[in-house]
Amino acid sequence: MEKSWRVSLGPIEKVPLGQGICYRVEDEGVAVFRARDGMVTAIENRCPHAGGPLSEGIIGNGKVVCPLHGHQFDLKTGAGSAQNESVRTFPAWVEKGILFIEYRPISVELVKL
Ligand code: FES
Repeated sequence: MEKSWRVSLGPIEKVPLGQGICYRVEDEGVAVFRARDGMVTAIENRCPHAGGPLSEGIIGNGKVVCPLHGHQFDLKTGAGSAQNESVRTFPAWVEKGILFIEYRPISVELVKL
């Protein structure tokens, strides 16, 4: 069974309008973006191409552009512009000015030796 839990990340004002910030959640970088229309989205911070910090990418049209080589990722679905590339997404929302995500760790398969 896959587990997930709600994590409070503090005041939404910490995320500038039209930009992203990387939060550490359970030892993983989570990039949270706050679009100019107020929409909040969260994806894993590490670009699957070569590890670029997606929180430092430019956002627009519902996508983030990786600052290293320009691959794009959909902020709602995590789908990438390059074949077979995607990032995990996390539900994100604001309650009374506080930012929350529903965090779900990477599934780990236990292998018996
Ligand atoms: S590291 Fe993101 S596109 Fe290369």
